[in-house]
Amino acid sequence: MAAYHLDTFEAYLDARRQAAENPEAFWASIAAHFAWKRPWDNVLSADFERAHNRWFEGGILNITENCLDRHLEIRGNKLALIWEPNDPRERFVRLTFRELHTQVCQVANVLKKHGIQKGDRVALYMPMIPELAVSVLACARIGAVHSVVFAGFSAQSLADRIQDAGARCVLTSDGLYRGNKEIPVKRVVDEALEQCPTVEKVLVVERTLWAVSMQPGRDFWMHEEVETVERDCAAAPMEAEDPLFILYTSGSTGKPKGVVHSGGGYMVYAGYTFRNVFQCRESEVFWCTADIGWITGHSYLLYGPLLNGTTTLMFEGVPTHPDPGRFWQVCDKHGVNVFYTAPTAIRALMAAGEDHVLAYSLDSLRLLGTVGEPINEEAWHWYHIHVGKERCPIVDTWWQTETGGIMISGLGALSPMKPAHAGLPLPGVEAVLLDKEGREIEATEAEGLLCIKRPWPGMIRTTYGDHDRCVQTYFSAFKGYYFTGDGAKRASDGLFRIIGRVDDVINVSGHRFGTAEIENAINGCKAVAESAVVGYPHPIKGQGIHAYVVLRESAGASDEPQLEIVHAEIVEAVVESIGRIAKPDRIQMAPGLPKTRSGKIMRRILRKIAEGETESFGDTSTLLDPDVVQALVQGYRSLSEH
Ligand code: WT7
Repeated sequence: MAAYHLDTFEAYLDARRQAAENPEAFWASIAAHFAWKRPWDNVLSADFERAHNRWFEGGILNITENCLDRHLEIRGNKLALIWEPNDPRERFVRLTFRELHTQVCQVANVLKKHGIQKGDRVALYMPMIPELAVSVLACARIGAVHSVVFAGFSAQSLADRIQDAGARCVLTSDGLYRGNKEIPVKRVVDEALEQCPTVEKVLVVERTLWAVSMQPGRDFWMHEEVETVERDCAAAPMEAEDPLFILYTSGSTGKPKGVVHSGGGYMVYAGYTFRNVFQCRESEVFWCTADIGWITGHSYLLYGPLLNGTTTLMFEGVPTHPDPGRFWQVCDKHGVNVFYTAPTAIRALMAAGEDHVLAYSLDSLRLLGTVGEPINEEAWHWYHIHVGKERCPIVDTWWQTETGGIMISGLGALSPMKPAHAGLPLPGVEAVLLDKEGREIEATEAEGLLCIKRPWPGMIRTTYGDHDRCVQTYFSAFKGYYFTGDGAKRASDGLFRIIGRVDDVINVSGHRFGTAEIENAINGCKAVAESAVVGYPHPIKGQGIHAYVVLRESAGASDEPQLEIVHAEIVEAVVESIGRIAKPDRIQMAPGLPKTRSGKIMRRILRKIAEGETESFGDTSTLLDPDVVQALVQGYRSLSEH
């Protein structure tokens, strides 16, 4: 029987061996540590080729029973959630497991009262307030499928996601505070709903007390509704493979896809990986700075810690408000033991100078973590020295929305640690490197395409409403493998170093965008004939967005004031279609794009130019018009001189 908790490096090696020898027995013994209403009949039925992978079939459970009810007897009065507001002068909130349980039941009953049933999709578009955590769990309580949309997305993006999922209900707030920004969230929802006939009910949480318009019969105040319902709500019995949530993420083509995770496997994987990567003890406070609108917030702010009875901290604000010492002030204020953030935040705080971090003791910290993008060595060392005081190990956790949980990472202080290396695959994760022809690279020291050879419980089940897209995107590039879209290196000691995406996905401050998605928005501008978007190395964001734009003849490209208007229109188009988070960092007007005779844009060249390269563009003989390259280099120069 495999141990749920790995407490030595030898235990890890042993678990890895067991999982390799008999994966089903291994995962069955991990799953046995959770509460099931009915045990499963079959641990796994796998079919990579058709992307039919089912875990714990026949099993019945409710993930909220595992997050809440299971803890009531032994730790009912222990803190489950600490909430720190955007403004440090405002009061923070603390909820025990018992209090959180009651609030979840109440909101679950409100959803039921408004006709929401098992299997219905509910969209959540909310700030980082306790009610968001409560609402997510309330959906899971009754078996409604939650689809959290990050509140930085535009009305159009929200509408697209609501429509794609066919959501019947939206949970939102009046407004939100984020740093020094104030956003009228309900107004964004109202605008989105003009295009969303499936939505029957909107439940609005009070956060800012701003006046909002409420549509009679459709819109209700959550605080009024909870007064009308019971304080207990039985957890709906869910099949292990019933969907738990949809989370939209960008791919290299077309519109964002709804990644679907199911309850049983996700619970087992999020729980097991949280326990072992972060090695939290009973008394510890865990802080993941990600928004619940991203997978990191789902798995390691909410579900992972609660499944393990760990106190989780939720922060409404941003790292630099009111000053760049805010993270560290919160660590001291709430005695944070494990701190998990993104490299982009570390780089931004590093740029603000040491003084902000040296002003706090950070004595409570035991372990640090990073996620979302490769961390450069300079940032790693800054984090290690100034935040961790060279005393806290760092876990660099590699995973994806599609993997549900961490795949390659150190385990607390147990594993070898090397700057910029994610490390070793977790037990049950068979990570391999393939060459371009799809052959597995046997040598330990190697570089290749990162693939996973075997199903794992937290893996993506489908892309909502379009299973074929799931098959095509992840399981078709190399038969018999899940393809991650990342390139990676493996060092002689077996530790993995993730290099980054090899597809047309860019990672800006740990947020994923498809270049096609941004191009579509830009091409919607009247003045634009065509465009191409690439990522380039950015000192804080990891990657920046560089847009090459070819204007229509009629757009008056030689006229400066006219150009400025077009520039503003392009920015506005992206903000409207996707959101402020996808705003291009650079817009370069171009006379044309480097295309092959067959019309394919040679992005390789555009990436090089955006990196500042002026000469070595490799073979350009297949270009229709090789002269365009020099014109683009010229254009880039005058752009950088600005
Ligand atoms: C992509 C997934 C689930 C994590 C949050 C982002 C990149 C993620 C690391 C890491 C290097 C990383 C990869 C991956 N990535 N973690 N530790 N080191 N790169 O989730 O939006 O689904 O993005 O983020 O490129 O494919 P996501």
